[in-house]
Order: sequence, then structure tokens, then C-alpha cells
Amino acid sequence: MSGSKLAGYGRFQYQHNQLFCEDVPLAQLAATEGTPLYVYSQSTLLDNAQAYLKQAGEQALVCYAVKANGNPSILRLLAQAGLGADVTSGGELFLALHAGFTPDKIIYSGVGKLRHEIEAALEANIRALHVESAMELEQIAAIATERQQIARIGVRVNPDIPVETHPYISTGAAQHKFGVSPGTAVSLLHTAAQHPWLQPVGLAAHIGSQIKALEPFAASANFLVGLADELASGGIRLDYLDVGGGLGVTYEIGDWRLAVDEPGKESPISQPQAAHLQSPTIESWVTAVSKPIQTAGYGLVMEPGRSIVAEAGVLLTQVVYTKPQGKKQFAIVDAAMNDLLRPSLYGAYHEILPVDFTQRRRGAEVSYDVVGPICETGDFLAKDRALPPLAPGDLLAITHVGAYGFAMSSNYNGRLRPAEVLVSGSQTHLIRQRQTYQHLLG
Ligand code: LLP
Repeated sequence: MSGSKLAGYGRFQYQHNQLFCEDVPLAQLAATEGTPLYVYSQSTLLDNAQAYLKQAGEQALVCYAVKANGNPSILRLLAQAGLGADVTSGGELFLALHAGFTPDKIIYSGVGKLRHEIEAALEANIRALHVESAMELEQIAAIATERQQIARIGVRVNPDIPVETHPYISTGAAQHKFGVSPGTAVSLLHTAAQHPWLQPVGLAAHIGSQIKALEPFAASANFLVGLADELASGGIRLDYLDVGGGLGVTYEIGDWRLAVDEPGKESPISQPQAAHLQSPTIESWVTAVSKPIQTAGYGLVMEPGRSIVAEAGVLLTQVVYTKPQGKKQFAIVDAAMNDLLRPSLYGAYHEILPVDFTQRRRGAEVSYDVVGPICETGDFLAKDRALPPLAPGDLLAITHVGAYGFAMSSNYNGRLRPAEVLVSGSQTHLIRQRQTYQHLLG
């Protein structure tokens, strides 16, 4: 073994062939907190938040999309860093207010806001409700009138911009349920302008998620400017244009085997060379969307989720059994689709790293299907994944699960939701307790 050379990705690095989060060995966390376990790097979260804030400038508002990861401690951290919040339900509004996001930095998007959710948003006096249908605008107008309170309104427009991503998370084409047509957006904002208790303040679009090209975002920003200018010529001057979120992340990390720590060897895990795998940086995304909007003199709002939290989290899991079946080798682990749904639901790819890659763990690699104990063939975390030979008790880290990981977890099959830990340097904070069987009765 050589000295203290580091090799890994971001804040998840091998030291002496043991995977760490910041300064904490993941094996130690698994021993103290058990598995499955979500582990987050605080400095990764803060760096990504800062990248948005710095590039966007003080005039812009960066509303973190709470749906990506609504852990109260993570929300508090992001609120303190200066972000606003994009919420999509009464529950997320409650979480955002509880975490200390100031109401004037909270926006509310979503196609089916309920009466009590609209009332709560008005009660809290948030920045704006983003309307997604004519009926919803009527409902908000009725509630604002009852309350004798001005409701600030943005309209979410569907810009009909096709994007390359999984069809379930493409949202900005005309056939999707989201937003309203440009013509309807204009007419709704005129209706709002004429209503005594409505105030039109913004126009929003969100074209989808996990998008790795900048062009559709720039097109969406330009589209918003065009529509806002049209509204301005009709006498409605909007405060801000909101380009939504959607910047993709690079889920592939390159060959982790290069991290092996041997005397005289100096080869950190490299980012993949293949350009199609790479996502644009946060800085280049912000530049692409802010240019048209800020040049035209409008305020800028953004709603990033995944690009702030995804890379900050890993899911630690332990091998329970291995089993050859037909032509397959299965590694049965203690995490499952209820803990991390993305592989099952979208066929999503997440890297899997051995936590312990010391000599005794190495050997001729085996191609495993890494699966959970749930009674569905769709319960898999990875398919045909080359890994060192696995044995019961071996720890694996599933990477880039900070976004839409715990957030989409469930109690399916009577399984308990996992615990969550936030790591800062050598400090660890349990930020969500593992559920107990009592929760299944609650
Ligand atoms: N704003 C709105 C209105 C949204 O609907 C979303 C995500 C965002 C912002 C944040 O988008 P992001 O920056 O995270 O791409 N469960 C899926 C992703 C669903 C995204 C839903 N909307 C997944 O695991 O890939």
C-alpha cells in the first residue's frame, strides 16, 4: 500500500482503497447507522448551491426544487445558503417554511393545487402561485376575493419545446399536462391584470428534467422573453421570467477500478471522455438562460433540483446473498426499489462502487444483477454490472442518488424507509431516523 493518495469522484474518494464521504469512511457509517443508508456530502450541496448563486448574480432568484430532496436539514442548509424554494404541494410549502425559506423567495408550481393549499400559500404570502389552467386561476381568484388579499400570479406556459430525456420527465411539449398554451397564458395574465385581487407578476416554463443540452433551455428562455414582450406591448409588464429547472447531471463517473491504491500508481477516477455522457456545467446553464432574460431587462427565476443534490448523495447497501440463476449472477442486497426507484421506473443508470476495495476484495470480476428483496422482477438497482466477486456483508455505494432518491422512497412490501446522514468534514449528523415497525401502523 502506498501513502495517502486520493482517488475517487467529487467528495467521495478512496483512501487506501476504502471509500470515504468527505473525511468519513463509509464503512464506519454503515457500522454505526446500519444499511440501507443515504449519505450526503454537505460541501457538495453547498458548492452546487453557490455555483448557481454566483453565476446568477444578486438580481436573480434561485428556487431550489424541494421535490428533489426534501430532507428538513438539507432544506435548512440550502435556505441558509441563500436559495429560495420551488414547492409543488402543501406539504412541500410546509417543509420550506419550516426550513426557514423566506416567503418572498417561495414559488408554488403544480397542475392540481387544492383549495387548502392555495389558502396556505396566501396565508404565508409567498412570492407567487404559478397557475396551470383557467379553472385554477378562477379558484385562486375566488379564494383571494374571499380573503380580500392580493394573490400574486405567474402563469406556467407550455413552450412546446421537445427535449431528449426519459419520456416520463419531459414536460414542455404540447401534449403534456403541464402549463397552458402561449395564447391561453396571455389571456390568463390579462384576466389577472383586470381582477381586483390578482396581480400578474411572472411567466414560467419548465421543459423537463435530466436534460444534457443547453439549446432547448436557451430556446425556452428566448420564448419567454418573446411572450413577455408581447404582454408588455399590451400593457402588462412582468417582474420576472422563470425558466424552471432541468439541468442534467453526469451519472457516469468513469472507471472506479483506476482508484486502486498501489505503490507508485497515480490514477484518479477520470470523468468519462464520451461527450454524450457529459452534462453542461451549472455555470454554462445559468449563462445560457440568463443572457436573453437579463438582456431584455426582466428578473430571472430558476428552479434547479437535481443538479444541486444528485451528486451529493450515495445509498449504502449491504450484500445479503449471491445466487446463480440461469445465465445470471444475482447479488441480492438490503436496498430495493422502495429505497431507490429510479432504476425500476426509468431504467436509470447509477454507478455502484465497492466500499472496500482492498486487496482481499479484488479478483476476477463478475457481471451481477444487483437486486433487492421485493417481490417484483422490476426490483433491480443495476443490471449486468461488473463488480469484484461479492460475498454476504460486502458494502456497496450506489452513487448520485441525492436527487429523487429518498424523495421517491416508499414502504412497499412493508419495508422501512432508510435513515439519512449528512457529512461535513469529519462530522456526521443523523438527519433522518430509520423508520421502525411502529411507522407501519401509524
Ligand atoms: N420545476 C418544476 C416545475 C419541476 O416539475 C421540476 C421537476 C423542477 C423544477 C426540478 O427539475 P430538476 O432540476 O430536478 O431537473 N423523478 C424524476 C425527476 C422528476 C422531475 C420532476 N420535476 C427522476 O428521478 O429523474
